[in-house]
Amino acid sequence: MLSSVNDGPGIPYKKAIMPSGFFSHQLEDRESPGAIKFMTFCMQCHSLPDPKLHSAKEWPAVVVNMMDKMQRKALYKRKSISVPKNEEVDQIIAYLSLHGLRDVVPTPKPLN
Ligand code: HEC
Repeated sequence: MLSSVNDGPGIPYKKAIMPSGFFSHQLEDRESPGAIKFMTFCMQCHSLPDPKLHSAKEWPAVVVNMMDKMQRKALYKRKSISVPKNEEVDQIIAYLSLHGLRDVVPTPKPLN
């Protein structure tokens, strides 16, 4: 599996990008269309990111950044890459936002 980052010097780039230890069987709702698109498109360059890496506020920008990488790779044909269609991008963002990190809303406490 593309998981360990402790392989010593010369670790393949692909392994080094993502924090290790997250696998597709750990995904919530893994049969849902959003999860399936997420697995299809988001493991082409690195191992599967844990949806809890980001919150609903952050995921859209992360996915837009990844779209840019995918489009460029596809354009310059450095690697054969499948780029999701707009509605698939929306499904991925919706899935990640639903299952992402919950933002902690600080509750104001009285000082004494
Ligand atoms: C074309 C290759 C490619 C594809 C496909 C790809 N990524 Fe990435 N991803 C990268 C590269 C390169 C990095 C490291 C550089 C960076 O962080 O911008 C990265 C880093 C990340 C990170 C860690 C950095 C951060 O912003 O938290 C996350 C999370 C991530 N990708 C999520 C995704 C998701 C979600 C998808 C699917 C929509 C995806 N990636 C598809 C290339 C790709």
